[in-house]
Amino acid sequence: MADDVFLSDSDFEKYRILIYNESGIHFTATNRSILESRLRERLRDKHIDTVGTYFGTISSDKEELKSFLDAITTNLTRFFRNQAHFDALEHHVVPELIKIKQAAANPTIKIWSAGCSTGEEPYTIAMLMSEILPPLWKYDIVASDISLKCLMTAKEGFYADGRVEGVPDSYLKKYFDKVDGGYKVHADIQSKIRFDYHNLKNDAGLRNMDIVFCRNVIIYFDEAAQTNAINHFYNSMASKSFLFIGHSESLFGMDTKFEFVKTQWATLYRKFM
Ligand SMILES: C[S@@+](CC[C@H](N)C(=O)[O-])C[C@H]1O[C@@H](n2cnc3c(N)ncnc32)[C@H](O)[C@@H]1O
Repeated sequence: MADDVFLSDSDFEKYRILIYNESGIHFTATNRSILESRLRERLRDKHIDTVGTYFGTISSDKEELKSFLDAITTNLTRFFRNQAHFDALEHHVVPELIKIKQAAANPTIKIWSAGCSTGEEPYTIAMLMSEILPPLWKYDIVASDISLKCLMTAKEGFYADGRVEGVPDSYLKKYFDKVDGGYKVHADIQSKIRFDYHNLKNDAGLRNMDIVFCRNVIIYFDEAAQTNAINHFYNSMASKSFLFIGHSESLFGMDTKFEFVKTQWATLYRKFM
């Protein structure tokens, strides 16, 4: 089949609308080639000849639709990605939350890593929280993604040698076991994190979160889908809580009640009420 007819303009439009409606992910002429290459792989794996036939499959088969959405996501991540955020977490956010919650009987900090990919972000948060929280303080983390493949890797907690770059040696020793070909996260750190399938176009039903990380996720959405996801976060968060988004993302001009906070380490957002 000639390259130029693999995905016609009208097929692209059908796929573009379906993907957008199902996930908020926004394909345009600029990133159309990414969609085409992921579609080619999927058709090859499923032994399907045409994008038209496959469109019929994903329109009627919810499981295949999930696998397709999984296949078109970009899952790039790493441990301690954007160190400035973790410095702000340690030196600004956690001290603020400790002041607010210190009178609580069983003080717990509730964290959501939304769009957690293969788990490096929530494990980084968990290790850092284990280091910095005072005795008797607890934390728990919900980590969610639309990619079932990524969630499986995240739950397993095994990372090949090359993927733990950026993890300080002291953390590697304390929170991982060296195993053949890589490192395995300790069970006690894993037990602090609940990995869940969740599509950010919907309300996750989470409430009273103290900290939300949603970094490098809404960059793939258009403005309406971004506003929808950000408003879901707002509703899931406690008063005086904190939101981290990616350093190339912004809520500027968006209709939200979050307030911009500039710290010495990084900029973030806060729900005050
Ligand atoms: C580039 S990764 C970012 C991972 C991590 N937050 C970080 O900053 O390193 C983006 C993740 O967002 C997920 N994602 C994209 N659209 C989503 C949606 N509608 N609902 C939930 N997760 C989504 C993708 O599956 C992917 O794993």
